[in-house]
Amino acid sequence: MCGIVGFIGQKQAAPILLDGLSRLEYRGYDSAGIAVITPQGTIDLRKSEGRLKVLSDLVHGGADLNGCIGIGHTRWATHGVPNSINSHPHMSEGGKFAVIHNGIVENYVEIKEFLIRQGVHFQSETDTEVIAQLLEFYYNECHDFFETVGRVLRRITGAYALGILCADCPDRMIAVRKDTPLLLGFGEGENYIASDVTALIPYTRDVVYMDDGEMAVLTREGIQVYDPLQQPIEKEHHHIDWDVSAAEKGGYPHFMLKEIFEQPEALRRAISPRLKNGRVVFEDMKLTAEQIRAFTRIFIVACGSSYHVGMLGKYTLERMLRRNVEVQLASEFRYSDPIIDDRTLVIFISQSGETLDTMEALKEAKKRGAYVLSIVNVVGSSIARGSDDVLYTWAGPEIAVATTKAYSTQLAVIDMLALAFGEALGTVDEAEYAAVVSELQKLPEKMETVLAHHEDIQKFAAQHFNHNSIFFIGRNLDYALGLEGSLKLKEISYIHSEAYASGELKHGTISLIEEGTLVIALGTYSKLFEKAMSNVVEVKARGADVLALTTESRREEMLKTVPTVLAIPDTLDMLLPSLGVVPLQLFAYYVALQRGCDIDKPRNLAKSVTVE
Ligand code: M6R
Repeated sequence: MCGIVGFIGQKQAAPILLDGLSRLEYRGYDSAGIAVITPQGTIDLRKSEGRLKVLSDLVHGGADLNGCIGIGHTRWATHGVPNSINSHPHMSEGGKFAVIHNGIVENYVEIKEFLIRQGVHFQSETDTEVIAQLLEFYYNECHDFFETVGRVLRRITGAYALGILCADCPDRMIAVRKDTPLLLGFGEGENYIASDVTALIPYTRDVVYMDDGEMAVLTREGIQVYDPLQQPIEKEHHHIDWDVSAAEKGGYPHFMLKEIFEQPEALRRAISPRLKNGRVVFEDMKLTAEQIRAFTRIFIVACGSSYHVGMLGKYTLERMLRRNVEVQLASEFRYSDPIIDDRTLVIFISQSGETLDTMEALKEAKKRGAYVLSIVNVVGSSIARGSDDVLYTWAGPEIAVATTKAYSTQLAVIDMLALAFGEALGTVDEAEYAAVVSELQKLPEKMETVLAHHEDIQKFAAQHFNHNSIFFIGRNLDYALGLEGSLKLKEISYIHSEAYASGELKHGTISLIEEGTLVIALGTYSKLFEKAMSNVVEVKARGADVLALTTESRREEMLKTVPTVLAIPDTLDMLLPSLGVVPLQLFAYYVALQRGCDIDKPRNLAKSVTVE
C-alpha cells in the first residue's frame, strides 16, 4: 500500500525522504514523489510514475532539491490512474500547501464540487488533491496552519494518514491519523513521520504510534501530539530494537528467501523466552486462568496466511481444550453479525497489525464486549494497541509481500497458547504437555535440516515451473497447510493453484485431473496417512504427476506409490505444519524465480492491506 515519509531537521531532506521511501518499496506502489520547502519559502515538488529509481534519477538522488523539511510518498493507485499527476504529494493551486495521504477521502466529490464553485482548479483525478486545495481555501480565511488543518479534518470523512507542509511555516510540519497507520520518529534536532517503522530504522528507534483522530506538530526541536479535541497530550514512546541489517537483504537475492532462511532463528526468538522450566510462560499476557475458564466461545479471526494459521490453531486448540473454536476470515466476520458477548474470546492474528479488515473486525468484537487477544508481529501496530492482550511473534521485520517467518512464528505462538489454555482448563495431560514443550524446543533445529535440502526443491521447481495449474491436496492439518502452499505459489508465481481437502476430490474436483496435472500431495499427518495415500493413488490413476510431502519415517512407504517424495523430520502431528510449510515456501519461491517474477513485490499486492 502507499508509503509515507516526512523529515524536519538540519540536513537536506530529499535524500532522507528517498532513502526512507526505498525502505517502503516492498509495500508495493506505482508512482512516487517528494516535496521540500526551500530556503526561499516555496515548495519544490517532484513526482514520477514507476519505480522510485526513476524519481531518484530525476532529482539526482535528491541533490536537486534544497530544503531541510519535506515529505515523500509512494502511491498505490485508488482514485485515478497511476501517473505523475495523480501521484503524491499534491499541492494547492496557490502553492501554499503540499500533502501526502494514505487512505480514502469518502466525501471528496462533494468537496471538489464545492471548491470548483469557489473557482479552484484541480489538476488530478485524486481524492487527495481536495485536501491540499481545501487547506489553502481555509488558510486564506484564517492564516493559521494549525487551525486550518483542524477545519479540514472537520470537513473530510474517510480514512487518512496525512503529512502536510505549509510554505508559510517552514519550521513545522503537521501529521494526522485516522484509521490509517502513521508513526512519529524522534531524533536529535530532527524528527520524522512514517507509515511504517522500517522507513525510519537507520535514523531513529524512538517512535510514537499515533492513534485515531490525533494530530502532531513536528518541529526540529520536538513533536507535540494533540488529541481529537486538539488538546496537547503525552504519548507512550516505543523503542524499536530491529537492526538495519534485519531490513536489508544481507546477500540474499530476495527478501523472501532471506526470510525463509531466517525462520529457525525467528522460531527460537518466539519460543525460547516463553518456555521456562518446562512450562509455557506468557509474561506478556494479562489473561488469568480464571478468565480463560470463564470463556464460553472462542473465535480466531484473520486474513490470508494469518487465517491459515488460524485454521491450524483451531485444530490444535479444539483438540487440546475440548472447546469449540470458530475460525473466520476477518472480511466476513465483520459483516456476519457474530454471536459475541463478554464471555467470548476473539483471537486476532496479523503480521502487520494494520490489516484494515482485521482491525475493523477487532473493533466489532470489542463493541460487542469480547475479550480481544491478538498475535501480532509489528510492535505498537494498530491491532496490537486495540487489543486487551497482545502476544508478539518477534519474527523481526518481514519485508517480502509473501509472508514466511511471520507465519511460522504465529503458528508457534498459537501452539504455545493451546498449551497455556489447556493447562488453565485442565484439559491437557502432563505427558502430552511435556512432549509438546520438548518438540517445540527442537523445532528450529529440525527446520534447519529441512532448509538444508533446499536444492532438491529447487531442482523439482526447475522441472515444474511451466504448469498452468497446480493442485495441493491433504486432509485436516495437511489441508490447512495446502491452503498456505497454494496461496504462496499463486501470489508470487501467478500460477493458478487450488488446495483441496483430499476427501472432497471425489465430490467434483477430480474431474480437473488429467494426464500431466501436477498434484502436490501432503501426507504428513500420521493419523490420516493411509487415507492420504489412497487419494494419491486416485489422482495418479488419472494421470497426475505427483510430488508427495511426508515425514522421514513414512518416506519409504510413500516411495512405493510416488517416485518424487520430500520428507520432513518426524515430530508431533500438531507441529508438522511448522516444518511442512518450508518446502512449500521454497517451491513457490523457486518456481517464481524460474518464471522471472518480481518475487518480493508481486503484482497487485501489498504487504500491509490497509484498504477494504
Ligand atoms: O498482516 P496480516 O497478517 O494481517 O496480513 C494478512 C494477509 O494480507 C497476508 O497474510 C497475506 O495473505 C500474505 N501476503 C500472504 O503471503
